[in-house]
Amino acid sequence: DRRPRALSGIQPTAGSFHLGNYLGAIRQYVALQESHDAFYMVVDLHAITVPQDPAELRANTRFAAAQLLAAGLDPERCTLFVQSHVPEHAQLGWVMNCLTGFGEASRMTQFKDKSAKQGADRATVGLFTYPILQVADILLYQATHVPVGEDQRQHIELTRDLAERFNGRFGETFTVPAPYIVKETGKIYDLQDPAIKMSKSASTPKGLINLLDDPKVTAKKVKSAVTDTDTVIRFDPENKPGVSNLLVIMSTLTDTPVADLEKSYEGKMYGALKTDLAEVMVDFVTPFRARTQEYLDDPETLDSVLAKGAEKARAVAAETLAQTYDRIGF
Ligand code: ADP
Ligand code: NA
Repeated sequence: DRRPRALSGIQPTAGSFHLGNYLGAIRQYVALQESHDAFYMVVDLHAITVPQDPAELRANTRFAAAQLLAAGLDPERCTLFVQSHVPEHAQLGWVMNCLTGFGEASRMTQFKDKSAKQGADRATVGLFTYPILQVADILLYQATHVPVGEDQRQHIELTRDLAERFNGRFGETFTVPAPYIVKETGKIYDLQDPAIKMSKSASTPKGLINLLDDPKVTAKKVKSAVTDTDTVIRFDPENKPGVSNLLVIMSTLTDTPVADLEKSYEGKMYGALKTDLAEVMVDFVTPFRARTQEYLDDPETLDSVLAKGAEKARAVAAETLAQTYDRIGF
């Protein structure tokens, strides 16, 4: 396969993926499987940076894979696998740990955010070095493009720095990747507090659209989204963050330019936009729920997809690791 490579990972979580995950990342996974030799993984190694119950972790990993397939990943057109099935991730991760400065790692804002949430003395060393494992995740596949949300940009920068550092020290080994962030949907905001990003950990239940919520709940959340005291439906993220967020979501899910939406809602009230968006959301999540359930009801198919994916991923990862070890002097 001569197409450029894409690689991304998503954590298994209890409950479903949320709309920010879908619009910021998963939608791009689906698009890139056409143009790229794409590798997508459920990152269970990253999940254990915080305490996990073994049975729940195992179930959530399969649940995440089922949702990715339901969202449109096609195992005939991309490689879908589970990170822990490919031991080279941990192996290259160690190498990258030894290439990263402590101060450099300390500057990662995601660690600061995540450890602050847990209480600094509860945070594990694994949480601290998770961006470095992510570097290994990407470099193993010689990825050129990494589809992620805006919050991951700093980690892709670190990946570029470490690839260049290794190449400079040991000879050309790794492809230097670029983030693939869609400007419009790189950051989807909380529906109740459009000043913060929609996120599993920071959003309140009403501000978070879980893709597997009961569609009635989803519609209710959309209809009670926080907007502003003005009435004009206009894209203006600075002054109208709530309405702008709704317009972006509507525009992406219906493939309609924001400018066209502004025109069609001229003279209408926020309620009209919310009612329409609630309907669009329900039409989107209803088949998604059904497809996810189909994959969960057929564990043999799911296991076979993941086993084949791991085999394909390993072939690529093993080659990169062997070359890396050789360069290092192992
Ligand atoms: P969370 O931030 O809710 O913990 P993850 O860290 O598991 O979610 O994110 C998985 C993917 O979804 C990443 O590529 C991340 O950048 C993207 N993502 C998460 N939240 C958002 C958001 N609100 N808007 C856009 N992309 C997002
Ligand atoms: Na995130």
